Amino acid sequence: MRLDIISIFPEYFAPLDVSLIGKARRTGTLDVRVHDLRSWTHDRHRTVDDTPYGGGPGMVMKPEPWGEALDEVAPAGGAVPRMIVPTPSGRPFTQAMAAELAAEDWLLFACGRYEGIDSRVVAEASTRMPVSEVSLGDFVLAGGEVAVLVMVEAIGRLLPGVLGNAESVADDSFAPGAMESLLEGPVYTKPPEWRGRAVPEILLSGNHGAIARWRRDEALRRTAAHRPELLGRLDPGKLDKHDRKVLADAGFPEHGEDMAN
Ligand code: ADE
Repeated sequence: MRLDIISIFPEYFAPLDVSLIGKARRTGTLDVRVHDLRSWTHDRHRTVDDTPYGGGPGMVMKPEPWGEALDEVAPAGGAVPRMIVPTPSGRPFTQAMAAELAAEDWLLFACGRYEGIDSRVVAEASTRMPVSEVSLGDFVLAGGEVAVLVMVEAIGRLLPGVLGNAESVADDSFAPGAMESLLEGPVYTKPPEWRGRAVPEILLSGNHGAIARWRRDEALRRTAAHRPELLGRLDPGKLDKHDRKVLADAGFPEHGEDMAN
């Protein structure tokens, strides 16, 4: 997969040399190219921003450097990348979107700073490539750079061969189909006792059925405690009697009610 990243802070992307993504780059699974937006400015101060029309606080990124950057990175008449613009006013980034983006051959990330990029840039780019404005969540970052690091990691780990253990992906909270959008429960490793705290007995039992049941109980409890709104996404037809009891005990009798009775 090819990834182009355009930013006024190319040095922000040093972490992409490290760990799983760094290895994927070295082995050729990922071809990451980071570009400095200021190389498409032509004035002495390498200006990329200006005051907003209509007034208001802050500065807006000028369209001209962006236009030239996109023309050069994705020239007309050639292959077409999917462009991703991180912004708090975008559509929410989800595991499903990560999976969709992991299936693309070429992604182009455009990192805004300040109050954002002149809106004509996305409007014009949309005439020649698919463009998605994407938000990581309901908070405001100082720029798109960190959001791109997050998205590249979420997407990169889904590429074939990037994770050692293919099952780790299928097991994720939010993986399509996996655990039906339940949060993952607690995990443990050796030693069996640490600072007076024992690993739950059941995990040492070797009883795989009982372990799977325990993990599901913990996932249901954690989801009820941390993300109760996710319980509404559970398919009631897939909740067994035991699930319903766990949810009722966790304070969600509406999900816990036994539909059969
Ligand atoms: N840029 C600034 N805030 C952001 C957010 N919440 N998500 C994505 N990009 C952003």
